[in-house]
Amino acid sequence: MSETAKAGAAGGEQAKRLRLNAVEMACPLQDNSGMWHLEDNQAERYKDLDYWIDLARLLERGRFDSVFFADILGVYDVYQGSRDTAVREGLYVPMNDPSYVIPAMAAVTEHLGFAVTSSITYDHPYSLARKMSTLDHLTGGRVGWNIVTSNLDSAARNFGLDAQIAHDERYDRGDEFLEVAYKLWEKSWEEGAVLRDRQSRVYADPSLVRDIRHHGRSFSVPGIHLSEPSPQRTPVLFQAGSSERGRDFAAQHAECVFLNAMTAEETRYLVQDVRARAAAYGRRPEEVLFFPKLNPIVGRTGEEAQSKLRGYLEAASAEGSLSLLSAWTGIDFSTFGADDLLGFIRRGEERNGSGYLAEFFSRRRDGGDWTREELAKYFAFGGVGSVVAGTPEEIADRLTAFADETGVDGFNIAYISRGETFREFVDLVVPELQRRGRVQTDYAPGTLRHKLFGEGARLPDSHPGSKITIEEEVRT
Ligand SMILES: Cc1cc2nc3c(=O)[nH]c(=O)nc-3n(C[C@H](O)[C@H](O)[C@H](O)COP(=O)(O)O)c2cc1C
Repeated sequence: MSETAKAGAAGGEQAKRLRLNAVEMACPLQDNSGMWHLEDNQAERYKDLDYWIDLARLLERGRFDSVFFADILGVYDVYQGSRDTAVREGLYVPMNDPSYVIPAMAAVTEHLGFAVTSSITYDHPYSLARKMSTLDHLTGGRVGWNIVTSNLDSAARNFGLDAQIAHDERYDRGDEFLEVAYKLWEKSWEEGAVLRDRQSRVYADPSLVRDIRHHGRSFSVPGIHLSEPSPQRTPVLFQAGSSERGRDFAAQHAECVFLNAMTAEETRYLVQDVRARAAAYGRRPEEVLFFPKLNPIVGRTGEEAQSKLRGYLEAASAEGSLSLLSAWTGIDFSTFGADDLLGFIRRGEERNGSGYLAEFFSRRRDGGDWTREELAKYFAFGGVGSVVAGTPEEIADRLTAFADETGVDGFNIAYISRGETFREFVDLVVPELQRRGRVQTDYAPGTLRHKLFGEGARLPDSHPGSKITIEEEVRT
């Protein structure tokens, strides 16, 4: 009996299983600015293989579906026009490449999935496709790809551009990137191409390995995919763009969507919007899963949790959180006086950062009258709306109520304190969610895609990746 069915049988009505995804990054701090100096925080362990191995074991014990590795290719240098705040605070820098720890984490686990970020603006589909296929082979089909367009000028400059490619154009280019990747993964090696026939001494049948002959506006890839087909072929596709154009991109390509939404209302709006757009592209709405961010602060009593939260807020760095927000929006918040009414929405629209944040503030505050200090507090941990402090029962109540109210399929569990938050969540909150039949007590067999959707290892037929075609070769 599936977990959902068990929950339904126990509770009299069908309760949706909540999928759990842990957010990590190969750097000291992500959204939790100021936290690294706290005694129990293991911020600096991001470069120890042991840390990642321990984490993999912990998350699998907690029956997490996957761990998601965020990644960026530049530094946060919009605030005060300088990278100094980010460097001083260990905020998203120094930053290692997260993909290399995946095989080590896979070796000590059997089921945990791994979603790794790669940029459609700065990577190339030919090499990205091979990297993902390699990881999918080595993990036995447990890999996902978080597709990002990248939104930092500092990244653009180091990839030889004067400035970023414009927001919507990044997504247009991304559509072609995906087209090339689908051709490589889905069509280059036909079923049965790999024979491994020792007797006839044929490893693979050349007539079943096809050039993809892609010649487009941004990419030219005439040849074959270098890797043989991996268990999932196309990795599970994750995406997090929330602007108008980003949602449209997600509706076409994404199987899992990470949300930045901070209220139930915002979340429901995004879920319904992307699902409706996906249906318009001929996909089934349930083919897209949604994961809003959650920052749990667990206490054995409510007072213990609140006192931890107060401690974290005291330790949080206002400069760090403004630096983070400046990078996300492309607006230097140091240029505003402490009590200025920002009205930055109008200015934000002229920038090239995340369109969604501007839209969000405009919806929240009719025109965006926020003071700098309010913003720093609100974004102390990447968005106060995602912080839930309480007992395991209270946190489980909030999670399940939020999911039922908004239609999301699980949570992107973030941490305020590396090493501490995930351990407490696994030891105290997961058992409570399992008691309620909302988190799996065992894994389903099979690939990550199968575990998440209960269907096959491959993309569903309605997905554009399955429908991709390559031009026929004209043989003379
Ligand atoms: C939960 C979440 C995780 C994200 N992770 C990354 C990341 O790892 N790397 C990155 O460059 N952008 C990341 N982003 C940014 C998005 O991919 C996207 O670039 C950003 O939301 C701007 O796109 P938009 O204007 O369509 O909203 C993330 C966004 C969210 C909400």
